[in-house]
Amino acid sequence: MSLPTRSLTPAPPDPILGLSEAFRADPRPAKVNLAVGVYVDQTGTTPVMPSVLEAERRLLARAGSKGYLPIDGRPAYREAVRDLVFEPDHEIVAGRRSVTVQTPGGTGALRVAADFLLQTGSNRTVWLSEPTWPNHTQLFSLAGFEVRRYPYLDAGGRHLDVAGMLSTLRSAARGDVVVLHGSCHNPTGVDPDPAAWHAIGDVLRDRDLVPIVDFAYQGFGHGLREDADWQAGLARPDLEFLVCSSFSKNFALYNERVGALTVVATDGQRAAAALSHLKIAIRANYSNPPSHGADIVETILCDGALRAQWETELAAMRGRIRGNRAALVDALEAAGVAGDWEPLREQRGMFALLGLTAEQVARLRDEFAIYAVGRGRINVAGLTEANLPRVVDALRAVAGG
Ligand SMILES: Cc1ncc(COP(=O)(O)O)c(C=O)c1O
Repeated sequence: MSLPTRSLTPAPPDPILGLSEAFRADPRPAKVNLAVGVYVDQTGTTPVMPSVLEAERRLLARAGSKGYLPIDGRPAYREAVRDLVFEPDHEIVAGRRSVTVQTPGGTGALRVAADFLLQTGSNRTVWLSEPTWPNHTQLFSLAGFEVRRYPYLDAGGRHLDVAGMLSTLRSAARGDVVVLHGSCHNPTGVDPDPAAWHAIGDVLRDRDLVPIVDFAYQGFGHGLREDADWQAGLARPDLEFLVCSSFSKNFALYNERVGALTVVATDGQRAAAALSHLKIAIRANYSNPPSHGADIVETILCDGALRAQWETELAAMRGRIRGNRAALVDALEAAGVAGDWEPLREQRGMFALLGLTAEQVARLRDEFAIYAVGRGRINVAGLTEANLPRVVDALRAVAGG
C-alpha cells in the first residue's frame, strides 16, 4: 500500500510564503521585502503591541487553567468580538440575531464558514473577486466549492469596476456564495464606497446570494468604524450573511491564531440554529479553539483603559501606513515614474497593487533585490525613509519614466 501518486510529486510553494523563503535566502544586503503580508515598523520588525504585553502580564498573574475551551469559544470573547464588529447598540446586536464563534485566525473562520455552508445545504458555487487573496481560491476549492470570479478593478487598475461587479453578481444563481473583502481589499487596496456597498447589498438581496464578508483588516484602513462601512449596504433586516474576523493584523497576534466567525440571521431562532451547525463544523475540524490569543483580545476589549491604549496603538500603525502611502505617491510623482499613482494615496490598508507585469516584478527581484507579489502587490508598511528612494529608482527602471 502506498500513498496516492499525486502526493509524492512536490506541490508548488505557497505563492506568498514561498517568496518570503526566497527573500531570507537572498544574500544581497540592500534587499527590500515588500511581499510579506504582515505589518512591519520602520525597523522592519513586526512588533508586539504594548497593550498585548500588558494583557499577557495580567493573564499570567491570573494563571488560569489549560482545560479545553467550549467548542464555540469563551462567551465573553464572543460577545466582545460581536460588539467590535457591529457596536453594542446595533440593531443586529440588540435584536440578538447574530452568533459569533471563536476561530483560529481569519483563515479558520473562512474554513468553518465554508464547511458550515456546505453542511447546511448551500449551493456549491462561490464567487471571488478577481484578483483576491490566493488562499481564498485554495480554501474554498478544497472545502468542495466550485470557484467563479467577479471582476473587481476597472481597466486602469486603480478603481472599482462597480458596473462589471454588479452585472456578474446578477448572473449568479440564487443561493450562490459571494466572498467580499470588508475593508483593505487584498491585494488591491481598493474598497467599495458606501454607495457601491448599497448597490452590492441590493443585488445580494434581490438575487438571494449568501455573502461572506472577509473582515481581516478592521482598523487598518481608515478606522475601526470607518472600515465597517460595508455594513451600511449589507446589514439590513432581510439579508443573512457571515463575517470572518481576524485579529492577526489589528492586534498583531499573527502567530497566536485568533479570529472569529459571526453569522447574522433574520431572527434569533435562525441564529441559534446556525450556532448548533457551526459547533459541528468546528468539532469535526479542530474540536475547540486555542485559548491564549483570544484571552488577550478579550482582556483588551473588556477593559476600558487597555482598550483605549490598544486603539491608540492601532491608530499609530494605521497612521504610519497612510504616511507611507503618501510618501510613495509623492516620490513616484516627483521622479516622474510612468503610471497613475494618485489613487494609491487614499486606498485602504497595507496593500497597493502597482499593476506591473510578471516580467517587471521579476526584474525588481532579480536586478534590484526588491520583492513584490503577483502583479506588483506591495506591502506599503515595508517602505522606510531609507529604502523608498531605491524602490522608486527601481520602479522607474522597470516601469519607465
Ligand atoms: C484577505 C485575507 N483574509 C484572511 C486572512 C487570514 O488571516 P489570518 O492570518 O488571521 O488567518 C488574510 C491574511 O493575510 C487576508 O489577507
